[in-house]
Amino acid sequence: MQPVFQWSRLSELGGTQFHQIIAAREAVFVVEQNCPYQDADHHDDLSWHLSMHIDGELAAYLRIVDPGHKYPEPSIGRVLTTAPFRGRGLGQRLMAEAIDGAQTHYPGQPIRISAQVYLLDFYRSFGFQVVGEVYLEDGIEHQEMLRAGA
Ligand SMILES: CC(C)(COP(=O)(O)OP(=O)(O)OC[C@H]1O[C@@H](n2cnc3c(N)ncnc32)[C@H](O)[C@@H]1OP(=O)(O)O)[C@@H](O)C(=O)NCCC(=O)NCCS
Repeated sequence: MQPVFQWSRLSELGGTQFHQIIAAREAVFVVEQNCPYQDADHHDDLSWHLSMHIDGELAAYLRIVDPGHKYPEPSIGRVLTTAPFRGRGLGQRLMAEAIDGAQTHYPGQPIRISAQVYLLDFYRSFGFQVVGEVYLEDGIEHQEMLRAGA
């Protein structure tokens, strides 16, 4: 099982591919986390979408919102591994690929994220540091984190 990465702008994703992504995002962030919120938003058109496929199945996904929209810095979000693929190190590989890609697409820029508090250590392991206080986003505790630009 060799993960295959795909970087796309929204306009480059076919309907079937974007449907797969939205279905995975809803399954995790709306259904699993029991959180009614607007998942498909106006940032989708202003982002890089990074998908990881294994044997043709969507195993993991995130997006990077362009600088100047969600935050002044590029922002990684919607980080997920689909339930059947968790606990195999794929989230780590996805984040490593995202940070490499961010350095290519936005050279020298820091990356800001809005991290769910239960995953602060996960993000710390990639060089992110907490900035600011805990706040509620859609009823879930979050904290902003920043990773210095390379
Ligand atoms: C977070 C998530 C992407 C991790 O994916 P994964 O592929 O299972 O992660 P990995 O196997 O690469 O694990 C890497 C490390 O992440 C941490 N981690 C993973 N899942 C975790 C969890 N549920 N709670 C706390 N730490 C976790 C662990 O430190 C793990 O290291 P270990 O294997 O040495 O214990 C996945 O659990 C997920 O999709 N969660 C729901 C969506 C979500 O909350 N996204 C983040 C929004 S900010």
